[in-house]
Amino acid sequence: MMTDSNDATPGQAIYSKRLLRVYDLWVLGISNQWIWKCPSAKLLAFYNRHISNNHLDVGVGTGYFLDRCEFPKSPPRVALMDLNANSLDSAAGRIARYHPETYQANVLEQIKLEIEPFDSIGINYLLHCLPGSIAEKTLCLDHLSVCLKPGGIIFGSTLLSGGVQRGGAARRLMAFYNQKGVFGNTQDDLDGLTAALEKRFIDVQVEVIGCVALFSGKKLEQ
Ligand SMILES: C[S@@+](CC[C@H](N)C(=O)[O-])C[C@H]1O[C@@H](n2cnc3c(N)ncnc32)[C@H](O)[C@@H]1O
Repeated sequence: MMTDSNDATPGQAIYSKRLLRVYDLWVLGISNQWIWKCPSAKLLAFYNRHISNNHLDVGVGTGYFLDRCEFPKSPPRVALMDLNANSLDSAAGRIARYHPETYQANVLEQIKLEIEPFDSIGINYLLHCLPGSIAEKTLCLDHLSVCLKPGGIIFGSTLLSGGVQRGGAARRLMAFYNQKGVFGNTQDDLDGLTAALEKRFIDVQVEVIGCVALFSGKKLEQ
């Protein structure tokens, strides 16, 4: 494993081995379906639409979507990037059949690792874990763009506070997670996210399901 930065940020520190054991059930099962109102099946379908055979996943959690998605061809090149070593271990173990590359790095800092660029980068449920305003946290898109080939696709999803419909349970749970520092999305809204993507990428698409924005954009061909 190659290491860049170990600076702790609260949005990654929570991912202990114990929490990762219940993540799929609580977040991807119960919360997505009943609280955020975006069933994981929709996120999996989104992965299947955008993933390439030369893919970097960032903010990997348990590796649930990488385990279940369909790569266009076999065998794919798959790489994992996360600041938290437990997440990297969990996801890498789960998709060991793809022999993933692993990179420990903080996306809020420049990526100083030498990595052969990718045709797709997935950042599912990463942005709402990052602290700061949309303008501050989307600096990670600049950092990751260095790892993306010209014409490559960046895609993902994130929970928003503004510009989406949030029920009472979603408001309360988001407020709780923000108070604990697990989320940093109190200032995240649909317009801000769309503008941050359009500033950096072409063919930007943003779709809202429940209080989740599913987005994609393409790096300009040079
Ligand atoms: C909510 S989980 C998402 C897991 C997975 N992508 C999914 O959709 O189920 C967020 C992941 O982002 C990682 N993360 C949070 N802040 C990070 C940062 N600054 N740099 C790199 N990874 C970070 C966490 O360690 C965790 O694995």
